[in-house]
Amino acid sequence: MPPVPRLSWRLAAPLVAAFLSVPFILPLALPLLLRSSPRALSLHRISWLPSLQTHTAPPPTMTTETSPSPPPPPPPMQTPHSPPPPPPSPPPPRRPSPSPPPPPKTTTDGDKGGETETGRCNVYDGEWVRDEAARPLYAPATCPYVDEAYSCAANGRPDGGYTRWRWAPRHCSLPRFNATDFLARLRGKRLMLVGDSMNRNQFESLLCVLREALPDKARMFETHGYRISKGRGYFVFKFADYDCTVEFVRSHFLVREGVRFNRQRNSNPILQIDRIDKTANRWKKADVLVFNTGHWWTHGKTARGKNYYKEGNTLYPQFDSTEAYRRALRTWARWIDKNMDPARSVVFYRGYSTAHFRGGDWDSGGSCNGETEPTFRGAIIDSYPLKMRIVEEAIGRMRFPVRLLNVTKLTNFRRDGHPSVYGKAGGVSKRKQDCSHWCLPGVPDAWNELIYASLVLEPNPIAWKKKR
Ligand SMILES: *[C@@H]1O[C@H](CO)[C@@H](O)[C@H](O)[C@H]1NC(C)=O
Ligand SMILES: *[C@@H]1O[C@H](CO)[C@@H](O)[C@H](O)[C@H]1NC(C)=O
Repeated sequence: MPPVPRLSWRLAAPLVAAFLSVPFILPLALPLLLRSSPRALSLHRISWLPSLQTHTAPPPTMTTETSPSPPPPPPPMQTPHSPPPPPPSPPPPRRPSPSPPPPPKTTTDGDKGGETETGRCNVYDGEWVRDEAARPLYAPATCPYVDEAYSCAANGRPDGGYTRWRWAPRHCSLPRFNATDFLARLRGKRLMLVGDSMNRNQFESLLCVLREALPDKARMFETHGYRISKGRGYFVFKFADYDCTVEFVRSHFLVREGVRFNRQRNSNPILQIDRIDKTANRWKKADVLVFNTGHWWTHGKTARGKNYYKEGNTLYPQFDSTEAYRRALRTWARWIDKNMDPARSVVFYRGYSTAHFRGGDWDSGGSCNGETEPTFRGAIIDSYPLKMRIVEEAIGRMRFPVRLLNVTKLTNFRRDGHPSVYGKAGGVSKRKQDCSHWCLPGVPDAWNELIYASLVLEPNPIAWKKKR
């Protein structure tokens, strides 16, 4: 009998102690408990800004001479695999109604329509407005930095209507594009685009729109004297009067490409989805970064995923490319969170850019020639790829406030903006049509306007204030 009470006391003592300590433990535990809600926070940031993209696959080009290359990305030197194909695009819908009314002249701040959960205007909800007076931002065939594949006018494209559209948000106006002011904001800084050939397309556009602000065009130059071509993976353009650079770093996947040798000593490309790309040491030095990836995840080895994806020491015999894309973006997100400082840098992710192939795909006779107007209706207008959801998910979990350039919808309308058969000098090309990339001047100019708008409208890194 006596042992019974004693025993219960032994049990009760720790319980009482635990109970008494709750008031002390709770405050310590609270921050941990609250930590689980970062997601909602980051979604705010995404919502307005321009920032993400995954494009459908543009047609890749190939490494070997045998593969007829479509307009897409150049073959990577290190990896022999073929480039990814562009995504299929739905057939063009009927002609839409003619140009929409001009956007209301309001400012972004304080406008309540079409707002995001942060109360900002959603600049991606809008329409293309014909603006003969203000577009294009540079005359066709005048900018020396547009490479052959995107020089549609110089290659003989006869119509010019595709250069005369301006993107206009429905519920607010973008700040009037001012290249001089853009350069002034970049003074002393490095802006770097990192990604595949769609990002090179955007890079060339940015060089051209900024060049217009220079009275003396010789005051900008590639620091090593390189001419832009798809064969090279790194370009640095200096704007001498502003002590700033605009750079392009090729990285098709953002994660690390590698090679594996089998017993017969044949080399095979692999992709290490848990390791950041080798070019990442360059990314660190930028003040403004613009990323993209997407097209290369749909083709050949990438899509089939046989003995291609590697994680840790595991080479997967078979792996789903969508899941691989998700993991690669998480690897990228972790790297940004760990290596970039929001007090010093701005990071954009440009969303998927839509391809418009009719009657086939990039490698099976698809075409988009003869389109001289955007489309304003049809299923394609609301298409939003799974890869974009994956991008949103990755960005939503980050600590770093990445700005999503959500250009997918804006590109959905523009079936008229691709090089189609005008991707080659000397006339109509009989090769595969390029319905993935964009003629310049053209659609990527609008993406760069959205970057400018973001730099004007959003709070920028604290460190920038001191520098300017
Ligand atoms: C463009 O920006 C520059 C520099 O901030 C300014 O001096 C100029 O007036 C602006 N131009 C227009 C048309 O707003
Ligand atoms: C991006 O735009 C699409 C419409 O094209 C929309 O469905 C999506 O929610 C937007 N994403 C973000 C994060 O705002």
